[in-house]
Amino acid sequence: MTTRDEMNSPVDQVNEPILRCQDITKSFLGVNAVNGATFDVPKGKITALIGPNGAGKTTVVNIISGAMKCDSGTVHMGSTDVTNWERYKIARLGLMRTFQLSRELGGLTVLENLLVAPKVQAGESLFNIFFRPRLLKREERQNIERATEILRTYGLYELRDSLARELSGGQKKLLEISRGVMASPSLFLLDEPMAGVNPALIERIGGYILDMKRQGMTVLMIEHNLNVVEKICDNVIVLAEGRTLATGRLSELRANPEVVQAYLGEIINAGPHN
Ligand SMILES: Nc1ncnc2c1ncn2[C@@H]1O[C@H](COP(=O)(O)OP(=O)(O)OP(=O)(O)O)[C@@H](O)[C@H]1O
Ligand SMILES: [Mg+2]
Repeated sequence: MTTRDEMNSPVDQVNEPILRCQDITKSFLGVNAVNGATFDVPKGKITALIGPNGAGKTTVVNIISGAMKCDSGTVHMGSTDVTNWERYKIARLGLMRTFQLSRELGGLTVLENLLVAPKVQAGESLFNIFFRPRLLKREERQNIERATEILRTYGLYELRDSLARELSGGQKKLLEISRGVMASPSLFLLDEPMAGVNPALIERIGGYILDMKRQGMTVLMIEHNLNVVEKICDNVIVLAEGRTLATGRLSELRANPEVVQAYLGEIINAGPHN
């Protein structure tokens, strides 16, 4: 894969935030899962969200994507305040996400999983169903073409007629990513897209994420593998105990004693696989 630094053109230096989270809090049964998370996600970049298990990373992604409501704080997409909006409304603004545990529809084929992926479709309108059947036919054809192209890109084309439940763990991760890409998001949140997959596939998924950036997508990814973070992410947000501990480049964070103590120390000591 080409690394992040080879791709940073002067145009990339514009650090306009596409997403801004301010002072987000969320508690479950009185226990703070997120406790003042504040960070920006710059447009057109790959940003990593890292931190120890239980730091609140997935909860933050749930709140941003509308899967969960926060107790306080704000989430802005561009200049729009989307705090506690319904999931479908946020999706319409161009936000997609993947789940830490893949959520494929096991009884459908790989291709069908893409065709029913969440998106704004003309077919959702009753008016279109009754009065514009030709428009729907054309859209259906275009969707199949697009899904097929995506499956080719992600190496799933040969598996297009297999049931999703029959895929391996790594293939399910690819399907999860493909389903998100189907909607052409402007902001794509990935919750541990490489967890539990083999090193060759980690490399491939890293390449796909760099391609997303090349195509203009903004990516926010939760990731524990620091080699991957170092290779592909432009900047890093460290979350610990529900708070933003630090943000910056991984090299800067490695020199930050607080970050090393809260997270990096344990990873560095854990050995070379991270
Ligand atoms: N639906 C829920 N109900 C109750 N507690 C929850 C719920 N979701 C998360 N929590 C708790 O909130 C805290 C943060 O969890 P979260 O899943 O956001 O962490 P994380 O940073 O994603 O961890 P990991 O790296 O293990 O995925 C944890 O203590 C977790 O047990
Ligand atoms: Mg998580």
